[in-house]
Amino acid sequence: MPDRTIILGIESSCDETACALVAGGRAVLSSVVASQIDLHARFGGVVPEIASRAHIEAINTVIEQAIAAAGVSPGHIAAVAVTHEPGLIGSLLVGLMAAKTLAWAWDKPLVGVNHVYAHAYAAALEAPAIDYPAAALICSGGHTALYRCDSPTRLELLGTTIDDAAGEAFDKVAAILNLGYPGGPAIDRIARTGNAKAVDFPRTLLRGQSLDFSFSGIKTAVLYHVNGVPGAVRRRATGKGRTPSSGGAGKGAGGLSPQEVADIAASFQAAVVDVLRIKLRRAARLIGAKTLILGGGVAANSALRAALTDLAARLRIPLRMPELRFCLDNAAMTAGLAFHYLREGKVDTLDLEANATVRR
Ligand code: KG4
Ligand code: ZN
Repeated sequence: MPDRTIILGIESSCDETACALVAGGRAVLSSVVASQIDLHARFGGVVPEIASRAHIEAINTVIEQAIAAAGVSPGHIAAVAVTHEPGLIGSLLVGLMAAKTLAWAWDKPLVGVNHVYAHAYAAALEAPAIDYPAAALICSGGHTALYRCDSPTRLELLGTTIDDAAGEAFDKVAAILNLGYPGGPAIDRIARTGNAKAVDFPRTLLRGQSLDFSFSGIKTAVLYHVNGVPGAVRRRATGKGRTPSSGGAGKGAGGLSPQEVADIAASFQAAVVDVLRIKLRRAARLIGAKTLILGGGVAANSALRAALTDLAARLRIPLRMPELRFCLDNAAMTAGLAFHYLREGKVDTLDLEANATVRR
């Protein structure tokens, strides 16, 4: 008989207010996500103060909807899980306060969950158990990191980004190309009509066998490709010095044609995917991984999913990728991971703190 312990999870670390109920760490009974994308789109990124306020407005409704959709009553719930790090501090606090209130009112254990670890667990939702040790690549808007995982709760950081996160690079390049926010899905879509070999953008691998990442160089390379290198001789008739909004009729960013924009998007995406694939391969070899795990918002990227599927086949080990709905921020991964903490007796008290940064 599988364990049917039900956990209610809450996630509010960035710009999604989410609540989910998960049984036995895997069966998702309900998963409700209220996205704030429309509120932040006109600013081209998440505005922390707006995010916290929107969480406050949404949280009660989201929790009510998740409980109703799961068809359970509080008496069936074994624990309340919550993302308490890392993330925007104001956003984290809203979810944390809601979780503490429920845990106190229902007299249930409280389980604090690290958001990046939860992304590494998302691939186990609605799926068989993962074979460990696993090499996990987590790439989202705020994080890009490689972990050695020995269980859902035992993760060792192998490498992380020294500047931008992969998703952040997608968002910034999309802004340069005038593709809107969030940029990842837009680049993914438009890259399908582009030539990935059109521009040879840099693959920053850092020194030796480094497992760290750097994405600021490629972002700048795209900027210079589109707008010209500051102070340099004009390279292209249409490019230098144009702002993304100054394109003529039928032209996109920097006066580029739709095909040129697609080619740049495809070439940028190919470079980022190459780096992620190479680093994950290094990590897998280093730890003798039995499984590859992918997680985080960028795990929704079709080119990355294809490249890692190919890598896994070459390494002859399985690749575990979350369903698309569990790539982006959600609370099912929070509740799912908390099941394992609860089983190990790792519960928190009501003075659990929110932390904006990741503890290494
Ligand atoms: O995990 P997530 O929802 O939030 C954080 O924890 O940061 O990830 C959001 C990020 C954004 O940067 C977004 O552009 C990126 O994931 N993203 C994608 C795709 N879908 C979302 N990046 C590339 N391709 C996609 N299809
Ligand atoms: Zn996330």
